[in-house]
Amino acid sequence: MRIDILTLFPSMFEGVFQESIIKRAIQEKKVEINIINFREYSTLNNHQVDDTPYGGGAGMVLRCEPLVSAIESVKKENTKVYLMTPQGVPYKQELANSLAKESHIVLVCGHYEGFDERIKNFCDGEISIGDYVLTGGEIPAMAITDSIVRLLPGVIKQESYESDSFQGDLLDYPTYTKPYEFRGYKVPEVLVSGNHQKIREWREQARIENTKEKRRDLLDFKEVE
Ligand code: ADE
Repeated sequence: MRIDILTLFPSMFEGVFQESIIKRAIQEKKVEINIINFREYSTLNNHQVDDTPYGGGAGMVLRCEPLVSAIESVKKENTKVYLMTPQGVPYKQELANSLAKESHIVLVCGHYEGFDERIKNFCDGEISIGDYVLTGGEIPAMAITDSIVRLLPGVIKQESYESDSFQGDLLDYPTYTKPYEFRGYKVPEVLVSGNHQKIREWREQARIENTKEKRRDLLDFKEVE
């Protein structure tokens, strides 16, 4: 899979993709990630990428031309292009699962300012990572890339993400490691019983209990007591 990220701040991505699981996925060619500075696509003398809004008002607006040229320079037949905006569809695990099946996605990051509305005609959708406003789309693009890369075949063990929080609309079950007792807090007995059937049942039930307690909204459409 290939992920292209269009940004005015490429150096923000240094480090994030050069550690741990994402770094290994890149080295093992499970994913190719390109960070592209769309300022280079501006044909204006000073490489200006924004301008004042028609109708007046505060702030600057990202111009169509550099962004659309950058999008068109990377776009192929099966490419999906998404704008990072707080007005986009709320990003959920389900969308991560479906994006992980694409062969090529482009994530477009604005910064400080809004996009010229017409840019949306050259994109397949808008994505928001939550109901809050960030200074730019870079952190959303990092979060989305991370959530996709870990789902790609061979990046992490399938068992590791099958019970992930949100897979199947449930939160994950609680996990414990040694020591058995820490400052009076013990590990649930069943986990040291060696009975794998019982452990599976306990974990399934724990996912439901955990979700009921912390994220009732995820169960609202299900018949759960
Ligand atoms: N850009 C600024 N805030 C954002 C958000 N919450 N999600 C996606 N892109 C954004």
